[in-house]
Amino acid sequence: MCGIIGYCGPKSAEKVLIEGLKRLEYRGYDSAGICVILDGKLVLAKRKGKIRDLQAHLPRTLAGNCGIGHTRWATHGEVNDTNAHPHADCTVRIAVVHNGIIENFATLKDRLISEGHSFASETDSEVIAHLVEKYYAGDLEEAVKKALSLIKGTYGIVCLHADQPDLLVGARHGSPLVLGIGDGEMFLASDVTAIISHTKQVVYLEDGEVVSLSSRDYRTTDLHDQEIEKKVEHISWELEEIEKAGFSHFMEKEIFEQPESIKRAMRGRLDFEEATAHLGGLNMSTRDLLNVERVRIVAAGTSLHAGMVGMYLLESVARIPCTVEISSELRYRNPIVERNTLHFVVSQSGETADTLYAMRELQRKGATVLGICNVVGSTIARETDGGVYIHSGPEIAVASTKAFTSQITVFYLFTLLLSRMRDMSFEAGQEFIQNLQSIPAKIETVLSRSKAIEGLAKKYCEYQDFLFLGRGINYPVAMEGALKLKEISYIHAEGYSAAELKHGPIALIGEDTPSLFLVPDDALRDKVISNLKEVKSRGGRVIAVAVEGDEVIAEIADDVIEVPRVKECFYPLVMVIPLQLLAYYCAVQLGRDVDQPRNLAKSVTVE
Ligand code: F6R
Repeated sequence: MCGIIGYCGPKSAEKVLIEGLKRLEYRGYDSAGICVILDGKLVLAKRKGKIRDLQAHLPRTLAGNCGIGHTRWATHGEVNDTNAHPHADCTVRIAVVHNGIIENFATLKDRLISEGHSFASETDSEVIAHLVEKYYAGDLEEAVKKALSLIKGTYGIVCLHADQPDLLVGARHGSPLVLGIGDGEMFLASDVTAIISHTKQVVYLEDGEVVSLSSRDYRTTDLHDQEIEKKVEHISWELEEIEKAGFSHFMEKEIFEQPESIKRAMRGRLDFEEATAHLGGLNMSTRDLLNVERVRIVAAGTSLHAGMVGMYLLESVARIPCTVEISSELRYRNPIVERNTLHFVVSQSGETADTLYAMRELQRKGATVLGICNVVGSTIARETDGGVYIHSGPEIAVASTKAFTSQITVFYLFTLLLSRMRDMSFEAGQEFIQNLQSIPAKIETVLSRSKAIEGLAKKYCEYQDFLFLGRGINYPVAMEGALKLKEISYIHAEGYSAAELKHGPIALIGEDTPSLFLVPDDALRDKVISNLKEVKSRGGRVIAVAVEGDEVIAEIADDVIEVPRVKECFYPLVMVIPLQLLAYYCAVQLGRDVDQPRNLAKSVTVE
């Protein structure tokens, strides 16, 4: 949430900052700004709207080599030019960009005002600039440290001073910050996508760490000035992975990448000879795994839906009792941590505040918490006791798609691993692997029908309300379909268990509310068909996602999207694809901002 970039080096800071902000725009996009040091002065440009709006209003003279930039997702203060970052002190000699929330900002602001400071914006972030001003006596790092020692809350910040044209000071507490080491140039950013086109050598800052950098050098310390030696890491992915590669939107690209991203999640982890999976990152011995009596999965949004699929799998295949919880709810209900319960937190970004705090609460109570994350080096990935990376590659579209299918894939792997330690036979294990390995090709088949789904989107996109209905392991897929549709097309949609329909939602059925039914050929098929008929007999329109050649469904549904037949427990991976495509094409048809839907941001680092 909110993107930060800082640059010191020989290049035009403006160009580097704007390019970085464009790559970060998915993190927050209601306003943006940059600040560059030029001839001993700060030049600030801030604008409500997208980066392109900022670009259209940049001053002509911005030719400095050191600067900071920010793209905002508003928390304190409305969306306008003034509240956009960077924020400056009273003298406009110091500027700061901030990601996070300062909880005690009102008290600090009152105190600073009583000391004579005047504030321009309504933001919490501006207090940092004034606190640094208060403590600045020629040493920016020292002033930043003094300022931060008074702050309660979360921050990733970068600060500069007009008197120091080759110096940036960055710090992190709860909001990510990464240092990029170039050849005679240095970068700071809230995530590596902003700097990958310049360098792949990075240093991830930890909470409580401060970095001072010039174009040639950097120094990392804690708030008490103790030097900290940091490991330089190498980013393995390529620039192309964060570009659209000929697709109209990142979301479209990411949907179509899924056969490949699912293979990446499996790569090197399936063992056909032993009919099991290897997940070394779990850091658990066979004995530890055998002692697991229960699993609890904790996540938010799409990751929560993946966790629900995981729950069905673990219970039905591995026969391990499993529960799933919304991370923000779990955190505040004083959760009970039982012995021999294994916890998973699932998070694409690895930065979601609700999930991170829930995880810390569980760890405080002695739980072993494993992570299923995409972003390497993210806070959750680093703080868990072990885990599995899904290796989806960067997911740029705000609406999560490929991460969802890869998270589920990891649950298949974990289910196989646990099952084979318990009741699953060698033959059944091999069959499970074959079924899983056949999924990418089946997804290719669904993707090849995208034109037909686009046609359905044209037919249905003007409806205001939708119901998504599924049962069993496909119930969370229905919820995910509804979430995808509402978040990017702004069509109201609800996901329900098809059986719940008669307990209330059926009152909504009529000509104006179409339903999308997931009808795999599984044990609940006949029951879902009964629910579908109940809708039809009340005048409701029905789109069914059904198995190829299902004539019964073809007869009763208004429209059918066919998916290949797969073994029962694998349907979520093929059933979700048409739902992602339907949401995508509806949003395109309605002219929505598909990759950056209103009010949202990619990683939600506030509670
Ligand atoms: C929906 C979506 C969100 C995220 C949720 C959790 O498309 O992207 O619902 O799934 O904010 O994010 P992560 O997985 O990063 O913890």
